[in-house]
Amino acid sequence: MRILGISAHYHDSAAALLVDGVPVCAVQEERMSRHKNDAAFPTGAIEWCLDHAGIEPADLDAVVFYERSLLKFERILTCTLRAFPRSWRSFPQAMKNSLGEKVWVRGIIASHLDLPKSKIYFTRHHEAHAAAAFLTAPTKRAAILTADGVGEWATLTIGRGERHADGRTEITAQREIRFPHSLGMLYSTFTAYLGFAVNDDEYKVMGLAAYGRPTMVDQVRKVIQRTADGGFALVPEYFEFQTTSTRSYASRFVDLFGPPRNPYDPIDLETSEGRRFADCAASVQRVLEDTLVDIARALQRETGLTDLCYGGGVALNGVANARLLAESGFERVFVPPAPGDAGCALGAALYADRIYLGNPDRDFPDHPFWGPVVAAGDLARAAREDEQDVAELGDAELIERVADALAEGRVVGWMDGATEFGPRALGHRSILAAPHSADMRDRLNRDIKYREEFRPFAPVVPIEAAETYFELPPGAARLSRFMSGVFPVRPEWRARLAAVTHVDGSARLQALERGMAPRLHALLEAYGRRTGIPILLNTSFNLSGEPIVTHALEGYSSFRRCGIDLLVAGPTLVSKRAVRREKPAN
Ligand SMILES: [Fe+2]
Repeated sequence: MRILGISAHYHDSAAALLVDGVPVCAVQEERMSRHKNDAAFPTGAIEWCLDHAGIEPADLDAVVFYERSLLKFERILTCTLRAFPRSWRSFPQAMKNSLGEKVWVRGIIASHLDLPKSKIYFTRHHEAHAAAAFLTAPTKRAAILTADGVGEWATLTIGRGERHADGRTEITAQREIRFPHSLGMLYSTFTAYLGFAVNDDEYKVMGLAAYGRPTMVDQVRKVIQRTADGGFALVPEYFEFQTTSTRSYASRFVDLFGPPRNPYDPIDLETSEGRRFADCAASVQRVLEDTLVDIARALQRETGLTDLCYGGGVALNGVANARLLAESGFERVFVPPAPGDAGCALGAALYADRIYLGNPDRDFPDHPFWGPVVAAGDLARAAREDEQDVAELGDAELIERVADALAEGRVVGWMDGATEFGPRALGHRSILAAPHSADMRDRLNRDIKYREEFRPFAPVVPIEAAETYFELPPGAARLSRFMSGVFPVRPEWRARLAAVTHVDGSARLQALERGMAPRLHALLEAYGRRTGIPILLNTSFNLSGEPIVTHALEGYSSFRRCGIDLLVAGPTLVSKRAVRREKPAN
């Protein structure tokens, strides 16, 4: 049975294909169209999935869309009308968005794929998040928590999932919190207030939080209040996102927190204004964490379960995830590699397969590599035409040469196999470098990523060596499988891991199991033999404002436009002429 899952029309569209209950491929539209966070109907992703599996649309047994568009339309309409006449400006835009695409999804899918409407299914948005979290995790029974900005109405759900021995799957939602009360919207409102891009830059707020102190928690608690049933409510007077699409916070919010940051002004932490923004980020981060911990703790007590599967865009917050693991009472916390809306394409397909169609539970590989495979031959051809140095090497020699180059301070673009599904580069589309010095961090920020310097880079370490360098509580290695948790670097190693240690001594590490990315694992070991530390800086292989590279030629184009010294795809190694050499200070 072939089931195509689709998420689209909000941000990060994606498609995923299941064959007989097992994922065959999944990819975000941005990786195909090259428009970052592409929200359009994912024609490129769908086409690639069908091509990859060698099937035609007519061969599909079901197509599943990740939310119930009419419910979403109802929410937009209700909120807009409730706020009338204040909302009159946003009304035409809301209607245009909804009427143009969101409501008529069944027709759009039917016409794009030339399928009968009877083959088209819908899940609720948070059912897709829940399925993406639970059905991709290696656990049979778990509590499920989902939290995001908003789908149709729900913004946070709690429930449980069970994969029975007889093959049946159950996912039950027990309670939900509804729009406009939303942890995702709270965080996005502060993202906008702090001068960053909503739905894109939330992680910058988390990065900035490490520079501040949570001195404004009392003010944040004025805008989000706890409710008697253990949930929370946003206080509407402080927000405007529920009534207009152009502004997320109200003037009372500014009265409480002070003037917002102008996005064009740099954040100068030497000034009291800069510190106020950092304190503000630290305060909302603290309140977000406390709220999630309380909700998860109650869920653990209620269910008595040891595993938590956690999805939704809020699950990208690695600092909060580490606190959930430490304080909620769950022994294991599973966050999928694509917890956000893109992952709902896979979640919706899995939900329909197991729940609607009652197909039996299936195990499948626990990795994120479901996208297009890099073609090394394309890289070799392009680089030769461009008169670069090209070598085609066996694995062992290639790894030794790349390890030598990294130990000499060179920066490597690393493409290997299929692309990651989700926002993190987990070793198949990465920029790798020595993790030891702050100079390397600054060089990457300046010459390659062109980005703000307060954001840390992440380390990748073989799982066997992770505890030597990082303070990992029980369950942390699992959370670090897909870089979903932020944990302390052991103090004695911080000076020698300066490029990947954040200002508060933490790092969002990837603990790599050999079987997940064997070549990168071998490279880490080879690097460790040279430097004594088997850790590399691992950042996603993309330039500022661009999606992560998919194909060899995109990698090559990035390589030619920035300060990457070496580029690898499969057995092909390209060296840039006139490379710079900087000895890492380890
Ligand atoms: Fe979502």
